[in-house]
Amino acid sequence: MFSISLLFISLLLSFANCKPTVNNISDLLPRLLLISFDGFRYDYPDIYTLKNFRSLLDRGVRVQHIINSFTTTTFPNHFTIVTGLYEETHGIVNNIMYDPILNASTSFDTMNDTKWWSQNSYSEPIWMTNELQNNNGKVETKRRSGVISWPSTGTPVNGHMPSKYEIYNETRRFETIIDQIIKWFKDPNEPINFGTIYFYEPDHTGHIYGPLSSQMNTTLQYCDQLLGYLLAQIDNDPYLKQNLNVILTSDHGMTEVDEKRTLKLDDYIDSSLYSAYGGLSQMNIFLHSG
Ligand SMILES: *[C@@H]1O[C@H](CO)[C@@H](O)[C@H](O)[C@H]1NC(C)=O
Ligand SMILES: *[C@@H]1O[C@H](CO)[C@@H](O)[C@H](O)[C@H]1NC(C)=O
Ligand SMILES: *[C@@H]1O[C@H](CO)[C@@H](O)[C@H](O)[C@H]1NC(C)=O
Ligand SMILES: *[C@@H]1O[C@H](CO)[C@@H](O)[C@H](O)[C@H]1NC(C)=O
Ligand SMILES: *[C@@H]1O[C@H](CO)[C@@H](O)[C@H](O)[C@H]1NC(C)=O
Repeated sequence: MFSISLLFISLLLSFANCKPTVNNISDLLPRLLLISFDGFRYDYPDIYTLKNFRSLLDRGVRVQHIINSFTTTTFPNHFTIVTGLYEETHGIVNNIMYDPILNASTSFDTMNDTKWWSQNSYSEPIWMTNELQNNNGKVETKRRSGVISWPSTGTPVNGHMPSKYEIYNETRRFETIIDQIIKWFKDPNEPINFGTIYFYEPDHTGHIYGPLSSQMNTTLQYCDQLLGYLLAQIDNDPYLKQNLNVILTSDHGMTEVDEKRTLKLDDYIDSSLYSAYGGLSQMNIFLHSG
């Protein structure tokens, strides 16, 4: 799978000389919002007309590409993004996997067990790193993290949970996720200084219709509207406009495949000789012993 995704970094520090207007409880803290649009191929803003992605790009920094870690699927790469560890180290090697040491397999419903995310004591999501930097517990420099829908949300990683979180909910509108994370950044009493949110599109559309399709255009127009909704909330708030940095990224890209050019493993290898876990772009195959 071709696997280049995008990374935009927007530094919204255009009024560096103004004093914060809303709240200065934690002025010394950097503020960062990390957003992932799953499966957002690096060149979508060049292929499709996406006004808000373009606007972010024009006032920020765009990296040309990222080399993903392998495997290029949702859970492995999202955990790599927040821990800085490769899959073989953090142990999330696929969306659906079997682990011979744990003698257990996963599904979307059982991935909320801490044993999957705490396989290595070095696994430390950035929301945990942020909170571990608290300055002797002084209230005025209290770092708090807020996490919504990011893979592993709601599961303790090596015993740690972010101050604020909401677990993945398929039927929830992404606008309400944006509203919530912004509310946490603006909370007068317990503001977060690091927030991260995840959206499952355009990956879903890419898997069904491919990256170059009218359906992808429709989905990307929606993603662009969502980004516009977020940027408007930041731009309309003098405090956030002045203090919030935004990183927009993705876990992997998307390429076209020809459904006529396929090989069926079962036509060549006796399926009783192995067990397979995974699906979509990758599978893990375990040969039976004997
Ligand atoms: C903001 O900082 C000033 C000067 O440090 C302080 O006097 C004031 O109480 C602070 N305001 C809030 C809302 O924390
Ligand atoms: C995508 O859709 C928009 C809005 O319907 C349209 O203006 C644009 O031409 C389409 N772009 C592509 C590349 O199909
Ligand atoms: C692995 O788990 C299965 C049941 O899920 C059990 O039958 C099997 O004995 C276990 N294997 C080992 C080596 O513990
Ligand atoms: C994981 O999610 C399932 C299904 O939603 C739920 O029944 C279970 O209690 C959850 N387990 C943990 C450890 O949160
Ligand atoms: C998921 O979101 C929907 C729509 O906002 C809501 O009605 C539902 O209660 C949520 N489910 C959970 C488990 O929070």
